[in-house]
Amino acid sequence: MNKIIRKEQFSEKVFLFEVEAPLIAKSRKAGNFVIVRIGENGERMPLTIADADIEKGTITMVVQKVGLSSIKMCNLNVGDYITDVVGPLGNPTDIKKFGTVICAGGGVGVAPMLPIIKALKAAGNRVLSVIAGRNKDLIILENEVRENSDETIIMTDDGSYGEKGVVTVGIEKLINQEHIDKVFAIGPPIMMKFSCMLTQKYNIPTDVSLNTIMVDGTGMCGACRLTIGGKTKFVCIDGPEFDGALVDWDEMFKRMGTFKRAEQEELEHFEE
Ligand code: FES
Repeated sequence: MNKIIRKEQFSEKVFLFEVEAPLIAKSRKAGNFVIVRIGENGERMPLTIADADIEKGTITMVVQKVGLSSIKMCNLNVGDYITDVVGPLGNPTDIKKFGTVICAGGGVGVAPMLPIIKALKAAGNRVLSVIAGRNKDLIILENEVRENSDETIIMTDDGSYGEKGVVTVGIEKLINQEHIDKVFAIGPPIMMKFSCMLTQKYNIPTDVSLNTIMVDGTGMCGACRLTIGGKTKFVCIDGPEFDGALVDWDEMFKRMGTFKRAEQEELEHFEE
């Protein structure tokens, strides 16, 4: 049982939770994730660790209400307990001195991007960040990203904040501005796919973090199976970060679609 010690609402559907998890706080690295369960029979939901405080023994996660489990979690309050938090899971991000790096985060993808930005900066990189959202309300963690980046561009689809346009517009602007050695893109699969298509045009290696369905998180169940570079990989143990140019995006969309239908049925049942 892990106690919630802080809850913040970022937008109508996006919440931040700070939760007691001292061992995970101590050992987590940028790119790691946890699997949480709400209720004994709750499904397992992977969430990236956005931040950790070793002294307080807490980790921070950002959750978007998209399905039954995330709605259940977002309904919890300070003082409530999460049934269990397992982790840190997955491989840490490949952090080294690349030179100049673009970190592009879309929607709640900015949360997992934040520790990567901090780690890249600490490794001596020039970090240029692009934060994107459909509108102003969906731009999260702007101050934290700005504090840790050399330059930050905000993009909104409707132009209600920052510059008008999708995330790739911001990425391309930076590519035209200076030499870029590496790109990290985290967000909805469609955003990551288009970011990779753009950077491939300029031959810039791009890592993405995949948030697939997960059950056990240990490579046993196969729920997170995807084809990467023609080979079957498990996102939970081989990822969650991969070279975006090697990801079979169409397969990923198909699998996410299957998941959405099942989840919708469950959600309707929950709302009855
Ligand atoms: Fe089961 Fe990855 S979550 S194999």
